[in-house]
Amino acid sequence: MASRITKNVERSESLTMTVNGRTVTAYAGETIATVLFAEGMTAFYKTAKHQLRGPFCNMGTCFECQVKLLDANGSSSGWVRACMVPVEDDMVVTTADAQ
Ligand code: FES
Repeated sequence: MASRITKNVERSESLTMTVNGRTVTAYAGETIATVLFAEGMTAFYKTAKHQLRGPFCNMGTCFECQVKLLDANGSSSGWVRACMVPVEDDMVVTTADAQ
C-alpha cells in the first residue's frame, strides 16, 4: 500500500512500474528510491554476508540503495543506485525482498 501524502498535492504524470513482481504507481520525476519508500520498502539489497541495506545518503555516494533493474525480457540489466535513477514507464525492479 502506497504511503504518499495525497491531500493538497498535485502530481506529475503517473507511470506504472513493477517492483518484485507487483505493479505499482509512480510519478514522473521521482527516483526509484522515492517509489520504493512510498511503497513502504526500506531494504533494497543484501550484501554478500546477507545483511540488508537501504538508502543512507540519497545522493549517489554510499551505494547502499542498489536495486536490480530488469529489461523487458526479465533478464537483469544490472544494478543501479535507486536514489539516482528516475522512474520510467514499464520499468522492472527487484529488491532484496525478492532475492
Ligand atoms: S542512498 Fe546512497 S547512493 Fe543511493
